[in-house]
Amino acid sequence: MVDSVLKALRPEADGVFIDCTFGRGGHARALLSVLGPAGRVIALDRDAAAVAAGRELAATDPRLRVERARFSSLEAVASEHEVSGRVNGVLLDLGVSSPQLEDASRGFSFLRDGPLDMRMDTENEVTAAMWLGRAGAEEIASVLFRFGEERFSRRIARAICNARRDAPIRTTRQLAEIVERAVPRVPRHRRKKTLAERHPATRTFQAIRIFINRELEELETALVQSVNVLKPGGRLVTISFHSLEDRKVKRFMRSMSRPGPLDGIATSGRQPVLGIVGRPARPDEEEVRSNPRARSAVMRVAEKRS
Ligand SMILES: C[S@@+](CC[C@H](N)C(=O)[O-])C[C@H]1O[C@@H](n2cnc3c(N)ncnc32)[C@H](O)[C@@H]1O
Repeated sequence: MVDSVLKALRPEADGVFIDCTFGRGGHARALLSVLGPAGRVIALDRDAAAVAAGRELAATDPRLRVERARFSSLEAVASEHEVSGRVNGVLLDLGVSSPQLEDASRGFSFLRDGPLDMRMDTENEVTAAMWLGRAGAEEIASVLFRFGEERFSRRIARAICNARRDAPIRTTRQLAEIVERAVPRVPRHRRKKTLAERHPATRTFQAIRIFINRELEELETALVQSVNVLKPGGRLVTISFHSLEDRKVKRFMRSMSRPGPLDGIATSGRQPVLGIVGRPARPDEEEVRSNPRARSAVMRVAEKRS
């Protein structure tokens, strides 16, 4: 959705942009290609491999700065770079990157056998295998239900606890097989199109990944901070890949674009600080054909009010 993101960010030649999720820099590169010599892109990622790729690019382009940071520290990064309140656009392209999914050693994918890791930031201590080795059945079921909307969460949690009595669950294949055995088979005519969508372990892997990386807490904090770093008229652009993320973004943008209290926060007399721009956008058929992972992407845009 690079073109749609660029359109939404409306880059002025000398604008300042923060790409909170550098990945391999698809969006950052596109931005740099339309900025002038005084334009700036500050990019963050919590993944060391993404940051290394970013720093290589930054070595050839002084307009780009790359920080290894979580996007929940967006305000701190903006203030270090002295751009707080002066940012033209903030981009959050959420979730895992293709290189993370494709590298079996990162343990994100049930389609590739590897260590059950799933940490975006490998400096964090707790891997998925460590957590699954010690969490109780109730806790596992609750994570699968909350972050994967998995209706067989209890069955899967029980199967995990039974399996680990025989041997620790150390690999993605072990976990995928446990889940496959635990859930009822979907009749052929009701199966989803892509392997990733129809595999019974899809929701379990998504849930554990979100939990291990505290993805929803990260998102909540970054959304609030993005409003503070943007300048009036600056834009927040988000791309979500599943309904839990998208719901959070939607609620946030809605509540910030209305007067009155935010969800659960007493802010009487608060004026709206964001305006929602356009309707949520999805990738077109051609993009989904060339990148099936984009199928569930939803882009939302909001503008800080003057
Ligand atoms: C979907 S990819 C971004 C792809 C990127 N827009 C591109 O064009 O290559 C998401 C990236 O965000 C990073 N990420 C996810 N959560 C993060 C967080 N809380 N803080 C910083 N980076 C995060 C991941 O490590 C991953 O590299």
